[in-house]
Amino acid sequence: MDAVSNKDKARHFSLLVLPGDGIGPDIVGETLRIVDWFGDYLGIQFDIEHGLVGGASIEQCGEPISDAVVEKALQADAILFGAVGGPQWDDLPRAIRPEMGILRLRQDLDLYANLRPAICFPEIVGASSLRPELVDSVDILIVRESTSGVYFGEPRGIETRADGVRRAIDTQTSTETEIARVCRSAFEIARRRSHKVCSVDKANVMETGVLWRTVANEIGLEYPDVSLSHMYADNCAMQLLREPKQFDVIVTDNLFGDILSDEAAALCGSLGLLPSATLEMQDPTRPQRALYEPIHGSAPDIKNMDAANPLASILSFGMCLNYSLNSSAASELLNQAVRHTLAQGLRTADIATDGEEVVSGAAMTNAIIAGLDEISADEQRTALS
Ligand code: IPM
Ligand code: MG
Repeated sequence: MDAVSNKDKARHFSLLVLPGDGIGPDIVGETLRIVDWFGDYLGIQFDIEHGLVGGASIEQCGEPISDAVVEKALQADAILFGAVGGPQWDDLPRAIRPEMGILRLRQDLDLYANLRPAICFPEIVGASSLRPELVDSVDILIVRESTSGVYFGEPRGIETRADGVRRAIDTQTSTETEIARVCRSAFEIARRRSHKVCSVDKANVMETGVLWRTVANEIGLEYPDVSLSHMYADNCAMQLLREPKQFDVIVTDNLFGDILSDEAAALCGSLGLLPSATLEMQDPTRPQRALYEPIHGSAPDIKNMDAANPLASILSFGMCLNYSLNSSAASELLNQAVRHTLAQGLRTADIATDGEEVVSGAAMTNAIIAGLDEISADEQRTALS
């Protein structure tokens, strides 16, 4: 078969790119160079469309995400998301703040399983605030429920009581269906790892915690080969710092997952390293919708300076290779190139320790691409020999 007909036959994959605000466009820009590389490597035609989200969308359309962008997101094979927010939008009412852009996507696409791997690369154990022996080889997967809980519960609001005192209300709610499906995701993943799930709640003070624990136990019965333990969220926050290697898969609700994943990221050295994938329920009749984003925020103070660490975003695309393109080999290749780059000593400011030279986001990406070239050429040579 000649090259032209190969190209004609290239598989198409539609990627909706939503860079957002602050460093979002910087890191997503770098990631698109990696996407490009894998397009060639895998013979995939990435059909890339850009859209506005967050503050960028507020400025142009007056809302954090438009119906048109949500519609495109519903149609896309996957979404690559940057970050949202910035001080100029901090005083807006909650319903039109930049953050609503990502929250609406999670809810409208029913992306309930937010997978947040916290992996501590041995090459940069020094960047963690914990002692190297505590964090070296930490490999935790936080499965965060992302369509219910206090993020979306009603009623909510701030009212002024008859006595003139203001009162704020948030509602924490989860149905057994919402708890069950995210627990199942965690158990399924645990089966491909070390068969261990720790479910995290506040069953000692919250009704949602009581139901969470009950349902987690019920789902656990479907997975007799996976050992299930429970932990209160406050204890989990402490145990993550005390002995992080005791954890493998953690499953928890929206708010606890938000907090514990930031903690796990810092533990691994930097918020700039941790990727995430947010998936809907699998439906055998069509591809699973998925959104890939770094867990960090928009860091507006360093935007447009080519200073941001692109690794969390690049590794989020790595999760896309794994979950949406079903190529764990390609995802592993990218991981290897990232580790190779870190082993060579390349450090953006967030992971540099005293005296280490700091490189730009583009330089980091250049090194990863060089690593990909090198490792894939080696693989080819081995395959041919
Ligand atoms: C995250 C972020 C978001 C969240 C914000 C931007 C709404 O912190 O993805 O962790 O709280 O879920
Ligand atoms: Mg967060």
